Amino acid sequence: MSAIRKIALLTSGGDAPGMNAAIRAVVRAAIFHGLEVMGSLRGYQGLIENRLFAMNSKSVSNIIQRGGTILESARSEAFRTVEGRRLANQHLREHGVDALVVIGGDGSFTGAGLLGTEFDFPVVGIPGTIDNDLDGTDHTIGYDTALNTVIEAVDKIRDTASSHSRLFFIEVMGRDAGFLALHGGIACGAEAILVPEIETDYGRLDNYLSGHYIKDKSSSIVLVAEGEHCGGAMKAAEWVRREHPEYDVRVSILGHIQRGGAPSAFDRVVASRMGVSAIEALLAGKREVMIGLANNEIVQVPFEQAIKHKKPLDPGLLALIEILSI
Ligand code: F6P
Repeated sequence: MSAIRKIALLTSGGDAPGMNAAIRAVVRAAIFHGLEVMGSLRGYQGLIENRLFAMNSKSVSNIIQRGGTILESARSEAFRTVEGRRLANQHLREHGVDALVVIGGDGSFTGAGLLGTEFDFPVVGIPGTIDNDLDGTDHTIGYDTALNTVIEAVDKIRDTASSHSRLFFIEVMGRDAGFLALHGGIACGAEAILVPEIETDYGRLDNYLSGHYIKDKSSSIVLVAEGEHCGGAMKAAEWVRREHPEYDVRVSILGHIQRGGAPSAFDRVVASRMGVSAIEALLAGKREVMIGLANNEIVQVPFEQAIKHKKPLDPGLLALIEILSI
């Protein structure tokens, strides 16, 4: 018999489309299993400021289709301190909360792990980030929607790029990871990508720009992940303008548009599966694990593995960019 009777739920870090679908699934699965649920407003900051409130099945009506997070999110500086976490633990216990579900990314799980170990508080995580940069899961909630936003935007840019025979550097999100740039690059037919996982070599870009084949193209698109180590799309464009004045270069930074919008069907289904599984994991006595999806099966990944930042870009997909850009 599980000792868990009441859970709390929060969203933390950068928001991601599909977080609301996950909130709905957690709340309803908890109620289905006879648990009480509280939400924390603005993530860990809400725990520290005691902004916990009761949630019921109606609290999550009509949200599965909405982007953002109804619980709001924050990157709490106070929760990085042990005093902040002590206050959070105290408020959770004062409300009779027995376990916590955290929907977020690597920073959120680092905090969750600390709360778990320092105060012996059961915590389970659900991966919510458009960056898809958590180890042990093939997908994070929001990534599929963001990818679709990227391709919609890049397709539009390509229309104008080819009307003017221009070279576009388009910057996508990904502070530490190039998944959006790689998968977006393949889906949009990008000529090249620049990602944080691979040392940028402007020489390779130079080979490409000097190559005979680019001369026959009406437009060229290079997708650049924001965490690319030479300074992103602006720097790459500056370099081309200097070295190849023959190119008409433009830059587009897609920015936070990638974080908004209605979640895709895929993100809604994944979020619903993960939300239900998070409650089942807690009831089975699991703690300090992230719910993941590997080969379309739900898995449980220890926090310390999930946040390692070792998830590689698929070398086969990297090769595709080169093969398909000739
Ligand atoms: O959500 C993840 C992410 O989009 C990163 O790729 C990006 O660097 C970061 O969030 C920016 O977030 P914010 O503007 O909220 O600090």
